[in-house]
Parts: sequence; structure tokens; C-alpha cells
Amino acid sequence: MYVVGAFAVILVAGLAMTFVRQFPRKGDNDRGLADARPNTRLLAAWVLGAVGIAIYAFAAGLPGFLDANAAPWMSYRVLVAASQDGYKFTYPNGHIADTLHVSIDRPVRLDATTADVIHTLQAPALRLNEPVLPGRTAQAWFNATTPGTYELRSAIWGGDRYQDMRTAVVAHTPADFDAWMVRVSDVFAGRTMEQAGEVLYGTKGCKTCHTIDGNKLVGPSFKNVYGHQFDTREGVKITADDAYIKESILKPNVSVIAGFEPVMTPFEGRITDKEIAALTAYLRTLSDLGGKPAGADTTKAQPAGKEVAAAAAPAAPQGGK
Ligand code: HEC
Repeated sequence: MYVVGAFAVILVAGLAMTFVRQFPRKGDNDRGLADARPNTRLLAAWVLGAVGIAIYAFAAGLPGFLDANAAPWMSYRVLVAASQDGYKFTYPNGHIADTLHVSIDRPVRLDATTADVIHTLQAPALRLNEPVLPGRTAQAWFNATTPGTYELRSAIWGGDRYQDMRTAVVAHTPADFDAWMVRVSDVFAGRTMEQAGEVLYGTKGCKTCHTIDGNKLVGPSFKNVYGHQFDTREGVKITADDAYIKESILKPNVSVIAGFEPVMTPFEGRITDKEIAALTAYLRTLSDLGGKPAGADTTKAQPAGKEVAAAAAPAAPQGGK
């Protein structure tokens, strides 16, 4: 490119200088080349030739451009949040990690945003180099072919903690990748029961039918649901305690709260006891009624923290990492 560029500059500048010397204006009446009639054929060949070269360059470069910019259909999509504290990778199932784990032979599409300044996503071993600019989503993709750990870094200085902008791409075999995903997607790892419950509220789909701010959607809001007393459609009085909530999740249409339709999907077989315990713990944090249900079961009178600790303890060994 440099040689071709240098050649073009020397040719054009050289010809220009030569012509200026060769054909100087000889006086006021000398209109020089201005009077000469252009050679139409030469002119047409020149213009068509130039347009032809431009079209050829476009057509020849387009496949490569598309390949570099548009991720293959059905790529594995990972969201990247870059900031001066480092990278956060969010997987399709909601798991967040600070290292990028991928499976080999499966195209990975990265949708990257930055919270502060310009960063880049650079993994030389994977031919990945994408600037991430504030206010827009940068898209890049790659396909790892060999298992291993490769450097992933920002190639641009982004502040005093630039050294934090270094992490790794870990390429696993497909089986290892699935095993890794199962291992790390444990919602209970590093979370209290309440926090796990809050995550489950989103990932199990409760959110589509139950709000937490008191507004009624398809189902009653989770605000103050724990511990409240109500009539079922059959006119039975019920207090929402742990057992009732468990039943409501597993077999929701056994006792339906008056004013609602029995449309909640039964979660039987799709939720574990531990997940129910976490959701219950979360519901308790959303309720002011948690401490004073009518049925005098003393465990419920305890502050949420203690009871959660008790609920979490026996569950821990069966958590089986
Ligand atoms: C398809 C919408 C829908 C989804 C999804 C859904 N629910 Fe429900 N839920 C309802 C409806 C409607 C009711 C009221 C009728 C009934 O009791 O069956 C209800 C009732 C409940 C009740 C009893 C509330 C009360 O005041 O008695 C609990 C507890 C509950 N749901 C928990 C959950 C949890 C936890 C999840 C997520 C794991 C969930 N629901 C997902 C629609 C839904």
C-alpha cells in the first residue's frame, strides 16, 4: 500500500510539475490548452475505467467487510459492559462473569458498551479488535478453534486503572463449556437467600405476572403478600405463610385468591425446594406483615434475617456444587 501510494504521489506530482514547466502561458492571448477540444473517447475511457476500479474494489471488499462486521446467524451472544473497573460479561442465561468463557467451534457475538470512556476489546489470538465507544453498542464476533486461555485486554489507555482492563478468553470444548455453565449458574453461589429469590423472581418468570410495587398485573402484587389474610374464591380464609406460598407456587390453582383467575402456571417439577425457600425469603422482605400472621407459628415472628439463616443452613449441603 505504501509503495503504491508513494508511486501515485510521485507520478501525479511529477506530471503536474513537468506540465507546468513544459506548457507555460506565453502571453495574454495564449489560452493554451483551454482551447483544445477534449478527446471524447479518451475521456470516456478514463471515467469508465475509474468507476470500474471503484466498483471492483467495493465488490471485492464487501464480503470481507460483512464477514468482519456481521456475526453469523445464531451466534452465541454475550453482552460486554466495559468500564474503568474492568469488563463484565453477561451470558444469555443471565450469568455475569469477569472472564469470557466460550465454547470452541461456536461463533460468539459480543455486544459491548462502555460506562465511561473509550475502551477496546482486543484478543490478538482470536483476531479480535473492536473499539467500544460511549453511547453506542459495538458489535464484534469471533470463533475460537482451539481450547485454551487467551489474553483479552483493552488496547487503549482508559485511566489510572488501565491495568484492570485485562482479562482472558477461556475457550472450552463444548462439553466443558456446558459443565462450566452449569457450575457457575448456581444462583445461590455468593448470594443470600433473599438475593437469590430476587434473581429467581426475574429468571423464573414471576415478574411477568406479579409486581413488587403494589400494582395488580395478571396476579396479585408481591408487595405485602407474605403474611396477608384473604378469602379464596371458595370463601375459605387463608393466611399466606411459608406453606401456603409453597403450595401457591407448586399448585397455584388449589386455592385461588378472590378477584383473580386461576391462570398461574403450576411450577411443580420446574422449581426446587431451595428455590422456593429463596423466593419465600424474598417475598418476606417485600412485606410489612411478615412478623404478625394470625396463625401463631413462632418462627414467623422472628426477624427475616434469622429465619433465612436457618432456612439456608440445612439447604447448603444439598446445594451440591
Ligand atoms: C401466568 C402468570 C403468572 C406467573 C408466571 C406466576 N404467577 Fe403467581 N399468580 C398468578 C395469578 C393469576 C395468581 C392468583 C390466582 C391464584 O392464586 O392462582 C397468582 C398467585 C400467586 C400467589 C398467591 C398470592 C396470594 O395473595 O394468595 C403466589 C405466592 C404466587 N402466585 C407466586 C408466584 C411465584 C413465586 C411465581 C414465579 C415462580 C409466580 N407466582 C408466577 C399468576 C402468575
